[in-house]
Amino acid sequence: MESAGPPHPCLEEKTPHISLCRPGFEAPLREELLSRAPPAVLFPSPQGGRPMQGEGWVAWEEAADDATEAGGDRPLVFERQRLPAATFWEERDCAALAERITRRVLPQLAVRPPPYALHVFTPDPTGGKPQGTRAARLEAEVRGRWAQAQPASHAALLPAERFRGEGGRGSVWQLCLLAEGVWSALSPAELLPELYPGGVHRMRMDHRAPSRAYLKIEEALEVLGRQPRPRERAIDLGAAPGGWSYAFLKRGCRVLAVDRGPLKLTGPDALAGTLTHLREDGLRFRPPPGWLPVDWLLSDMLIPPGVCLGLLRKWLSGRWARRFIVNIKLPQREPLVALRPVQALFEGVPGLHWRIRQLYHDRREVTAMGELPAEALRPTKRGPVARPRPAERKRKKQGLAAARARGRS
Ligand SMILES: C[S@@+](CC[C@H](N)C(=O)[O-])C[C@H]1O[C@@H](n2cnc3c(N)ncnc32)[C@H](O)[C@@H]1O
Repeated sequence: MESAGPPHPCLEEKTPHISLCRPGFEAPLREELLSRAPPAVLFPSPQGGRPMQGEGWVAWEEAADDATEAGGDRPLVFERQRLPAATFWEERDCAALAERITRRVLPQLAVRPPPYALHVFTPDPTGGKPQGTRAARLEAEVRGRWAQAQPASHAALLPAERFRGEGGRGSVWQLCLLAEGVWSALSPAELLPELYPGGVHRMRMDHRAPSRAYLKIEEALEVLGRQPRPRERAIDLGAAPGGWSYAFLKRGCRVLAVDRGPLKLTGPDALAGTLTHLREDGLRFRPPPGWLPVDWLLSDMLIPPGVCLGLLRKWLSGRWARRFIVNIKLPQREPLVALRPVQALFEGVPGLHWRIRQLYHDRREVTAMGELPAEALRPTKRGPVARPRPAERKRKKQGLAAARARGRS
């Protein structure tokens, strides 16, 4: 192991936290940081030659003097990933950068219990080939130096995928590459909002899926940490052309797809699940009583956030669904303001586990996900979950059969 040498001057300075977001959403991310309690301190301009914000990232620090670690509060909607207490290394050449940082960080890493992960990325993962090539080169240089310094254990600097398999233990060394240099942070895995490099869950397209919206639902399921099981019941509002329905059908679910537009699923009968297409208005739709509570409410309707709030309120107050994945389209201005009432609604539902997040595959939209505990779903005499009387049940069943016959495509 090489000696650490004297600290680089930047290490003597304050080490801000770096939060990453989708490029173009720095303003709502800053707003979210400012609305923490106590509010974060942002850096409006470069500090000592270091850039303090850029496309897809924002630097900030805790307001309280004694706060040393970033974390603990509710995950932010627009934050993809965080580099807690990061140091900036000003150097453009990848080999020189790798040499300097590695000499400094490897001794710090070696005293931490394994496993270790190395994440090297740029703040804009869609930034094109030159950026990606530089990041790949820096990663290769750093791994090479690790191998030289630690020949016996260099395999312990795990790629992200293997590290995730270790159950959230260990330390992650993140290198966020900019044109001017690199932000570097070494942190316990549990301090990070994500164990994906740069917080990017890039999902693989399934060529049988009829739309790219399929990627959003796959990512949402991964973030939620719960996969649909065979025979679970899903209601997909705004389903056409059918990417979300496809994701549930291929897992063997029973799907009610609600949309006036046509579904473009090829060979749905060959999929493991069953599909019914209802050409109805998703906002007026009420789940068939025999399906209550449904296992999944899905909604990707193109509706304003205020309308989406009304939909969520109706489904939550009725206890109509065990869990939900609802995409919220953002207005051009003040997206965070539009989300506040939704957050307030979720806060007010006892026992609800929820999260709102701008996924990697989300564009000008965010995804709200949640799950109600079993006790919150117990039928009550007055609540809409209470099973209807037999005569009413029969009438509603007939209604559903008629609707199916009308709407089947
Ligand atoms: C973004 S697309 C949904 C894509 C879909 N999730 C997929 O995976 O292919 C939005 C859909 O919402 C539907 N939509 C908008 N308002 C609706 C409403 N009130 N009721 C039902 N569908 C609606 C549109 O017809 C459109 O097909």
